[in-house]
Amino acid sequence: MRLILLGAPGAGKGTQAVNLSKRLNIPHISTGDIFRANEGTELGRKVKQIIDQGMLVPDDLTVSIVKDRLKKDDCKNGFLLDGFPRTIPQAVQLDEVLREMGAELDAVINLNVPDEVIVRRMAGRRVCKGCGMSYHIVSNPPKSEGLCDVCGEELKIRDDDKEQTVLERLKAYYEKTEPLVEYYEKKGLLLHFDGTKDITETTEEIMDKLLKE
Ligand code: AP5
Ligand code: MG
Ligand code: ZN
Repeated sequence: MRLILLGAPGAGKGTQAVNLSKRLNIPHISTGDIFRANEGTELGRKVKQIIDQGMLVPDDLTVSIVKDRLKKDDCKNGFLLDGFPRTIPQAVQLDEVLREMGAELDAVINLNVPDEVIVRRMAGRRVCKGCGMSYHIVSNPPKSEGLCDVCGEELKIRDDDKEQTVLERLKAYYEKTEPLVEYYEKKGLLLHFDGTKDITETTEEIMDKLLKE
């Protein structure tokens, strides 16, 4: 399946993507994770400045990274895009890339979560330094405090999870990303979900709907 996960920052895209990519056996591609994994490189330093201000990385750079990633063999049978596209121009360019590949999207999963829930979630989020897995100190804690369940590495607070930056990210979401809801609705691809339910319940709802499509 070829899928996109859409939703505001902190809506739970990364959390659902981990579950869905396992269940559907497709690679999880998060542009945010790719940028953070490049921290030591020149690209990483350049984008970190932008990310830590809560702004979006330029479209051309982001699209070229995704384009390269989609060419890899593991994307032949599908993929799950998390946090991409995030602007109308990115979505238009993705359509073009897919056309070149002779591929089509199956669905766009939209996670709805109100702003006040998002701000609470970000305040308690911890992410793994090693694999990028997200936890929450209250709603989704790791088995042993401060350590990743998957790889055992230390958990840390993301630099862009400061409240002021979260508000900037929300602003960028409403200005640039929310119009994608209508974009994909018009294409008949959008599936809506209530992202405030618990994590496994949401995964089950998404799986049910996808398999019925
Ligand atoms: P990115 O890393 O994509 O950040 P984001 O979209 O702001 O989303 P987050 O990763 O913060 O949240 P999420 O929806 O994945 O939620 P999570 O599952 O962690 O991007 C970072 C930056 O990179 C951007 O700001 C931008 O600068 C740049 N960038 C990335 N892609 C770009 C693009 N395409 N174009 C331009 N720039 C780009 O969950 C959040 C918390 O809630 C966690 O603590 C989790 O444990 C908890 N939680 C999750 N689900 C539930 C639940 N159901 N109930 C209770 N708690 C839950
Ligand atoms: Mg994420
Ligand atoms: Zn880890």
